[in-house]
Amino acid sequence: MALSRLSTTVGVSVLSLVVYVISVGYKRRSKINALRKQGVAMPKWNWWTGHLLVLKDNLDKLPADANVYYAMHDLVLDQHADTEIFLMDYWPIHEPVLMISSPSISTQVSVKYNLQKPHDSAKSFAPIVGGDSLISMNGDDWKTWRALFNPGFSASHMLDLVPMIVDSVEIFCELLRERASADKMFSLSEMTMRLTMEIITKVTLDCDLKNQRHEHPYAHALNTVVAWHSFWDPRILLNPARPFVQRYYSNIVYNFIESELSSRFSEMKRERLASASQPPPKSKRAKSVMALALDAYVTQHTQTGAELKALKLDDTFARLAVNQIRLFVFAGNDSTSSTIDYTYHLLSAHPSALATLRHEHTQVFGPDVTTTASLLKSQPALLNQCPYTLAVIKEVLRLYPPSSSLKEGRPGVSLADDKGNAYPTEGLGATLMHYFIHRNPRFWPRASEFLPERWLAGPEDPLYVNASNGAYRPFEHGSRNCIAHTLVYNELRIVLILTARLFDFRQAYGEWDELQKREEGAVKRAARALGLVGEKVKTVFGERAYQTSLSGAHPADGYPCRVALAKSEE
Ligand code: HEM
Ligand SMILES: *[C@@H]1O[C@H](CO)[C@@H](O)[C@H](O)[C@H]1NC(C)=O
Ligand SMILES: *[C@@H]1O[C@H](CO)[C@@H](O)[C@H](O)[C@H]1NC(C)=O
Repeated sequence: MALSRLSTTVGVSVLSLVVYVISVGYKRRSKINALRKQGVAMPKWNWWTGHLLVLKDNLDKLPADANVYYAMHDLVLDQHADTEIFLMDYWPIHEPVLMISSPSISTQVSVKYNLQKPHDSAKSFAPIVGGDSLISMNGDDWKTWRALFNPGFSASHMLDLVPMIVDSVEIFCELLRERASADKMFSLSEMTMRLTMEIITKVTLDCDLKNQRHEHPYAHALNTVVAWHSFWDPRILLNPARPFVQRYYSNIVYNFIESELSSRFSEMKRERLASASQPPPKSKRAKSVMALALDAYVTQHTQTGAELKALKLDDTFARLAVNQIRLFVFAGNDSTSSTIDYTYHLLSAHPSALATLRHEHTQVFGPDVTTTASLLKSQPALLNQCPYTLAVIKEVLRLYPPSSSLKEGRPGVSLADDKGNAYPTEGLGATLMHYFIHRNPRFWPRASEFLPERWLAGPEDPLYVNASNGAYRPFEHGSRNCIAHTLVYNELRIVLILTARLFDFRQAYGEWDELQKREEGAVKRAARALGLVGEKVKTVFGERAYQTSLSGAHPADGYPCRVALAKSEE
């Protein structure tokens, strides 16, 4: 009796679930169909599978770790080149998304309508940063935090932090010298990632991890949390151990940042109380981004000395501040390091650009390479006297943008293509595909060539770059742009100035691929010899150092390479 009641209940629940799924599914499917009939551009669509099979077919042609944007290649450049916007229906794994390669539509998204971050981004970033943070906040929360951090990332403050960065890059140079004399293949990404992690932590938290020779336990914990994360991969998301591993390492990360934060807070209170009685001592070194944020926080919350003495770091504030620091590391680690990797990649393939770059450094810093670091430390503004260096960096970020931008549509907002067609955004995501915008042939003559000189060309030159047409946006535009773009430009310039004249890099993918083949099992080798399994695809549109899918799109296989001392240095 009870059993049959139970089975009835179960039956009814299952039935209503099925009805629910079908009705929601039907509503969503009809919506896409209606958009299709209205003339919204999209690849060939199927009632049951949307565009998943289109995506799958395209992904199948790529190496498994290739950035998913490569799967849009033909859709952007052939099928929808006329509209530069099209809809991809990812049902049932994700809401439908407008894929955008048009500069002017991108500007509508980021500036004109300032579309918000996706509503579920806090949830998808939570395992990485611990909860809400600048990247997922919207509205007043976002405004308050962004205002708190903006001064710390300002151009003038960033110039004060140059000496700190130079110190880290000098260690990086030492390590490169060791690699040069060992004359062995190594992963460049691994080195640059440790460098960028060290720099971000110094700049934001005033804490030196000394991460380059030995991975700091905190850095290790952060990396482990990220390694166990995926924005979509079910093999990782469904692993039952994932929540436990992430919680364990998340705690290590939290405790480390929280204790650094508390000591900065106590230092600040001490300094402030002391300076109430005597003029503040000339600070010996520049303040970190977090120290400036704490300054602002303390100023907002106290008026009198007694209030200051009693002030405690508020729990909610501390927790969110820790999330923000974690976000800074996550947002800046892979993106900045992969940009360094691609800079060497392109320079080593373009010797004349490398020669021009070296010449500029000799002009500005003199022929004695041993004094460059100290010159930079004493005159950080020299960074701004290297226009060709900046042009190289801009061109690298154009060809290999580490990021893209994901926003969410809203009722009442329609995007317009150049022909005046309207694309309603309600219920849709909007992705600005930096890779394709930066290679859009309508705006970029010789789009796939590495030509730093285009950034120095005047308006009469066919290569002239129009800075206001929206076709260049590695750091995005509008109020939600990258908070750290000045830091990145400084960091990359410092790295180039301190390394370009000393080292020659050479990619070692051939050697790496041979090594992988030798290490694969006997069975696989035999199968390959018999022609039973084909060669794995290892390039994407002719590029072996293709961008992969992690947060910041670093080059495949960690960029295996070799380094030698530059000729004049031997
Ligand atoms: C080459 C390096 C970098 C590139 C290309 C880059 C690019 C971007 C882009 C495109 C966005 C906007 C994302 C979107 O619209 O969805 C963004 C946001 C952001 N980036 Fe970066 N980034 C880089 C390095 C960094 C670094 C080093 C940090 C931190 C120290 C950082 C912190 C942030 C933060 C906090 C946001 C969110 C800002 C907000 O919504 O208010 N980024 N970045
Ligand atoms: C930093 O980037 C590397 C290379 O992509 C990645 O393996 C690592 O998990 C990242 N760490 C963090 C904290 O983002
Ligand atoms: C640059 O682009 C803007 C916006 O598209 C346009 O109004 C302007 O005329 C362009 N300038 C030049 C010199 O082409």
